[in-house]
Amino acid sequence: MKVGILTSGGDCPGLNSVIRAIGKHLINSRPDIEIYGISDGYAGLINGEYHRMRAEDFSGILNVGGTILGTSRQPFKQMTLPENGTSRLQRMVENYKKFGFDCVFTLGGAGTHKTAGLLYAEGCNVIGLPKTIDNDIYGTDVTFGFHSALDIATECIDRLHTTAASHGRTIFVEIMGNKVGWLTLYAGVAGGADIILIPEIPFNLECVAAALRRRIEGGKPFNIVAVAEGAVLDSEAPFKKKERAFARRELRETTVTAHLAEWVQENVGVETRVVVPGHIQRGGSPSAYDRLLSTQLGSVAAGLCLKGRFGVTVAVINGEVTYNALTEVAGRTKFVPKENQTIKAARNIGVSFGDV
Ligand code: F6P
Repeated sequence: MKVGILTSGGDCPGLNSVIRAIGKHLINSRPDIEIYGISDGYAGLINGEYHRMRAEDFSGILNVGGTILGTSRQPFKQMTLPENGTSRLQRMVENYKKFGFDCVFTLGGAGTHKTAGLLYAEGCNVIGLPKTIDNDIYGTDVTFGFHSALDIATECIDRLHTTAASHGRTIFVEIMGNKVGWLTLYAGVAGGADIILIPEIPFNLECVAAALRRRIEGGKPFNIVAVAEGAVLDSEAPFKKKERAFARRELRETTVTAHLAEWVQENVGVETRVVVPGHIQRGGSPSAYDRLLSTQLGSVAAGLCLKGRFGVTVAVINGEVTYNALTEVAGRTKFVPKENQTIKAARNIGVSFGDV
């Protein structure tokens, strides 16, 4: 049996822990198995770049961040576009068949799953694994990488508290997540942010100002505002993402955070600062939680492969590690529901979401 493993899209902590679990489980069960590491995500499958992985390659990587296989972003839309008489999808299918793979494990986020769905429809056996710090993959309670990023983002907010308090400043911390607000919501609550702004709840400048004034009048001269990369003003909300991006480009801004901080400084009269932890949230060693989760997900994926169950993606559903059909989840996004319990709890303790 010949299997391939690839990691696609933005990296995150836990990728190597999953690779390790898949490799060790397969080798323990089928010592004659041939495992190949596909380089740089789907790019390696498109270009036929893979290398044999031996037992020793799966050792010593449990706590190593990033991905030993390399990764790249291959936009879904480009997969089926004609290029010199063929398409990237066709090249992947040809390489899969030519090389004689029996299965390819695709570790990635929403886009990776959509492409995995195309491969499966073309007769390639695929098993997906839900990776992303954004936690936005539909059909799973949690994705690997999310909790590590949450720990880092929370620590950033913790550290900002002391400096904001010392100077009496309002600090805006921009948390990753351009489509969904899971990371900002969880890190905001865990870090004790006073205002949390997420893409799912468009915010109003005057509501943010009122929340800041309430706190200041209540005797707290400093504030922490957790802003998701994808947070939107209520005035921007009716527009499509592309139109918003265009308008922001005109202002030389990709996110709303700097504009918001400037507006608050002028209109509320507090000193503001903007902090963008950026890719620090994606780097480094996986947390203990992610090492456990990755080991469980990787092992279940290996088990599915040995049973010949393909066209699926491994998932955690109500705390149990199981799987979904790719056709059911690929292309769908798990947004933060407005009635989410963490949002409710945060509102009940006085956190503002900038909407009322
Ligand atoms: O998809 C994960 C994510 O971390 C998003 O939250 C973020 O907007 C994006 O990746 C940035 O990715 P990159 O800089 O690698 O293109």
